[in-house]
Amino acid sequence: HSTTMEKIVSLCKRRGFVFQSSEIYGGQNGAWDYGPLGIELKNNIQKAWWKEMTQLHDSIVGLDAAILMHPRVWEASGHVANFSDPLVDCKDCKSRFRADDDTQISRENVEARKCPKCGGPLTEPRSFNLMFKTSIGPAEDSSSVIYLRPETAQGIYVNYKNIAQSNRLKIPFGIAQVGKAFRNEIVTKNFIFRTCEFEQMEMQFFVKPGEDEKFFEYWRAERMNYYPKYGIRAEKLRFHHHEKLAHYAKDAYDIEFEFPMGFQELEGIHNRTDFDLTQHTKFSGKDLQYIDQDNGNERYIPYIIETSAGLTRNVLMFLCDAYEEEKVADKGNDDDWRTVLRFHPFIAPVTVAVLPLMKKDGLAELAKDIQNELKEDFMTDYDQAGAIGKRYRRQDEIGTPFCVTVDYDSKEDNTVTLRFRDSMEQVRVPRSELAARIRAEIKN
Ligand code: GAP
Repeated sequence: HSTTMEKIVSLCKRRGFVFQSSEIYGGQNGAWDYGPLGIELKNNIQKAWWKEMTQLHDSIVGLDAAILMHPRVWEASGHVANFSDPLVDCKDCKSRFRADDDTQISRENVEARKCPKCGGPLTEPRSFNLMFKTSIGPAEDSSSVIYLRPETAQGIYVNYKNIAQSNRLKIPFGIAQVGKAFRNEIVTKNFIFRTCEFEQMEMQFFVKPGEDEKFFEYWRAERMNYYPKYGIRAEKLRFHHHEKLAHYAKDAYDIEFEFPMGFQELEGIHNRTDFDLTQHTKFSGKDLQYIDQDNGNERYIPYIIETSAGLTRNVLMFLCDAYEEEKVADKGNDDDWRTVLRFHPFIAPVTVAVLPLMKKDGLAELAKDIQNELKEDFMTDYDQAGAIGKRYRRQDEIGTPFCVTVDYDSKEDNTVTLRFRDSMEQVRVPRSELAARIRAEIKN
């Protein structure tokens, strides 16, 4: 009897969403590979976020900064000094835990120095820096130290003046970025929830000091309202207010999602004050003040409101929220049940599958022809193998919202059957109206 998470992991492998990194070598901890359906899903989640941020908010522009940054950035940001986790080890069974994470070890166990696995004695908590450190150039000395970025945010801060000046931006404005980040996480579990290599979708909103609390509330609401637009059930989301704040924050909320292992952080909304730009001013020696030309050239270091979501963690959320095993018949066998991923049509890796009822009598050719027409606008799939009911189930399992079935009548009257994943309802649609009909269904 496997848990929902095990079922999702297994489906992801079976259908080509996510594979273990370097699987043939026994796997690499903390890293996962996105297969053909996984990359479509991840791209769609990224596109939805990017649209929300840059297309629907006039004051936000995009950036793609390098992963490798000047090492002084991480001194300025506080990561060299502060970005660490408290770890405890079991002296007997050698298990290792993050002491501040109650999904890994309870507070009582940490305090009692008692291993939750074997009851053995635990070491004192000690702090461990999460940044991956490597070297650049041929000489491996202290002058060649370079880090893999542990967050995308710093690439935005160091570019804020370039972007504001080149695009003539006026405060308040925001900069959005999606990209890889790396953390030397000691305990990685729960599939792609916490990994050493992951992707973030971060937006930094630059505001006038004093307006920060207003914009903090604005972005908190915006971000919470965003997820249900793409089908995430609102009751699976909640806020968690931070009592213990990160070194840069004045206020912070997480948006949590109810994963199979319980409510866990999905995204953080942080009031970072002028901490980052003040630090970068100190460490770089450059004047990072904003000059407000509309207000008598008033100068100030902007405050920053940050929204920081995990893209790969979003992938897991969309999978978990969409996953359902549904009873659809009462014959007393396996066919009674279907596994369905109820993705929002914008998010689904395949939008429409075209299925000829039979291969023969020109139905396959007609179906191919229809697919060729649809693929200009949608991600399509074509499947002619096996009974039609089985083919529907295969599409349900990967979350394809629409199936188009081509039958003998299609040859006569140029209509096809459009089948909806969720209701399993089927309607007859003229071929000429198919694309418009699907487009209308996708829009939210
Ligand atoms: N710039 C702020 C920042 O990075 P964070 O709370 O450390 O804040 C933000 O990370 C988001 O990044 C988290 O809410 C989570 O979705 C994602 N994230 C962080 N560490 C991760 C990891 N090891 N694996 C996957 N996602 C991670």
